[in-house]
Amino acid sequence: MEQHAVVAEGIEKRYGDKHALDGFDLTVRQGTVHGLLGPNGAGKTTAVRVLATLLRFDAGRAEVAGLDVRRDPRGVRERIGLTGQYAAVDEVLTGRQNLEMFGRLFHLGGRRAKLRATELLEQFDLVEAGGKGVGTYSGGMRRRLDLASSMILAPRVLFLDEPTTGLDPRSRGEVWDAVRRLVAEGTTVLLTTQYLEEADKLASRITVIDRGRAIADDTPDGLKDRVGGDRLEVVARDAADVPAVVRTVARVTAGEPAVDEATRRVHAPVSDRVAALTEVARTLQDEGIPVEDIGLRRPSLDDVFLRLTGHATDEESGLKTRAALTEAMA
Ligand SMILES: Nc1ncnc2c1ncn2[C@@H]1O[C@H](COP(=O)(O)OP(=O)(O)OP(=O)(O)O)[C@@H](O)[C@H]1O
Ligand SMILES: [Mg+2]
Repeated sequence: MEQHAVVAEGIEKRYGDKHALDGFDLTVRQGTVHGLLGPNGAGKTTAVRVLATLLRFDAGRAEVAGLDVRRDPRGVRERIGLTGQYAAVDEVLTGRQNLEMFGRLFHLGGRRAKLRATELLEQFDLVEAGGKGVGTYSGGMRRRLDLASSMILAPRVLFLDEPTTGLDPRSRGEVWDAVRRLVAEGTTVLLTTQYLEEADKLASRITVIDRGRAIADDTPDGLKDRVGGDRLEVVARDAADVPAVVRTVARVTAGEPAVDEATRRVHAPVSDRVAALTEVARTLQDEGIPVEDIGLRRPSLDDVFLRLTGHATDEESGLKTRAALTEAMA
C-alpha cells in the first residue's frame, strides 16, 4: 500500500471572516519532496503551521506521519521538523554552539548533543564554518544551519517554509543540495515556495495553492506542460519589423508565435531551447532585423497562475517572481 507522510482533507482556518485556508486538501507521498507553490498570502504558512500542530484549525482532518494532528499533536511533534520563514538561529553563538544548544533543548544530553552537532555540520557542509559566529555567515550558510537545527532528531517529515526566499542563486543552490541529501536519507519534505523553478528542481509533485485552496496537484512536468513550457521571446526594435520577426520565430519554433503589438514582443513555445535561440538570433542578424531583446523565458509562478486561475498573482509576489526569474537567467 502506498504510504502517505501527510494527508490533509478540507482544512478550514478562519481569521474573523477571512478564510486563510478554505477547504485545503493535500497528499504527500513518503520519501519525496512535495512543493506547495503559491503567491503571498495564499495560505502556505498557515497550512504548514496547521500541519505542524502550531495552529488550531476550524474544520477538516489532517494526518502527519500516520498520526492525527488534532488527536495526537505531541506524537506528531516528535516526528516532524520545521524551518520557519525566518531563521531562528542565534547570531552571537557559533554554528556548532547553536546546534549543541538545540540538542540540549531536545534533551539529548551534552555528549550526544556534541556528537549530533558534528554529524550535522558535516552533513550540511558547515564543518569549517562551525567554529565561527553566525553573525559572519552568508545567507546560504545561515539557512543551512537552520535546516541542520531542524534535523537534530532526524524527523520523518520536515516542513520548510520558503527556505530560499531572498537568497542569491549560489546560496539557493546550496540549500537545494542540502534538501536533496535529506531526502536521500529518507526524510519526507514539504516545501513551500513562490518559485516555480525551485519546486521544479526539487519536488516530484507540486500542489498549487490560491486563496487557501489547492487549485492544482501535478508533477512539475505536468504543470509546465499545462502552462506551455519554455518560450522564446524577441522584442523588435521597430514596430515595422514585427511581421518579419514573427516569420523568423515561426520558422524555428514548434508552436504559433504570440504577438504583443504594443511592446513589439513576439514569443513562442520551444522544446530545444538553446538551438532555437541560436537559430533565431542568427537569422535575424543575417536578415539585418534589429532587435531590442531576445531571450528564453521559463514559465513563472505568474504564468501558472494566469493559466490556472485566469487572474494574476498580486503585485508584490509578481515582483518577487520576476526577481527570481532574473536571477535564474543570470
Ligand atoms: N494571524 C492572522 N490574523 C489574520 N489574518 C491572518 C493571520 N495569519 C495569516 N492571515 C491571513 O491569511 C492569509 C494566508 O496567510 P499565509 O501567511 O498563510 O500566506 P503565505 O502563503 O504564507 O504568504 P507569504 O508567501 O507571504 O508567506 C493571508 O491573507 C493572511 O493575511
Ligand atoms: Mg508564508
